[in-house]
Amino acid sequence: MLNINKRNFLFCCCALPFYYNTNILSSQDKFDYLLKGPLAGSLYYTKKKPGRWKKMLSSHIPVIQRKSNFLEVSTPHEMRGFEHFIIKHTILDKKFNIISEKKFDPSKDRAYSKHNIAGFSETLFVMSVCNLHDTWLEPVRLF
Ligand SMILES: [Fe+2]
Repeated sequence: MLNINKRNFLFCCCALPFYYNTNILSSQDKFDYLLKGPLAGSLYYTKKKPGRWKKMLSSHIPVIQRKSNFLEVSTPHEMRGFEHFIIKHTILDKKFNIISEKKFDPSKDRAYSKHNIAGFSETLFVMSVCNLHDTWLEPVRLF
């Protein structure tokens, strides 16, 4: 259950996205906010804040390997048809622009994707989405 009152909820929904998209917060503060702030562990899940799915961490957090101008992403998760599967992997830049996405067909795919990241040199974010256990976020620092 979320432990959030109405004031915190309004702050999260209205003010924090504004702060995030301005220069009020440093890059490190934005990074920490995303991975450790109030939305992590509630709207999405991270290694440090797996929230209600903490027993599911190892099978849902995306595993990322950088190979030159490519990111290889896998999620060590079953693909049990449309019953339980990884829906997609999405790569976002530091401003949350989608730069690459791979959707999976659970009848034939495994949860693996390869993304061209040529031209990016800062932090990227990788999302892996499960149809039952929501969205998991993992950063990649390219510098
Ligand atoms: Fe799952």
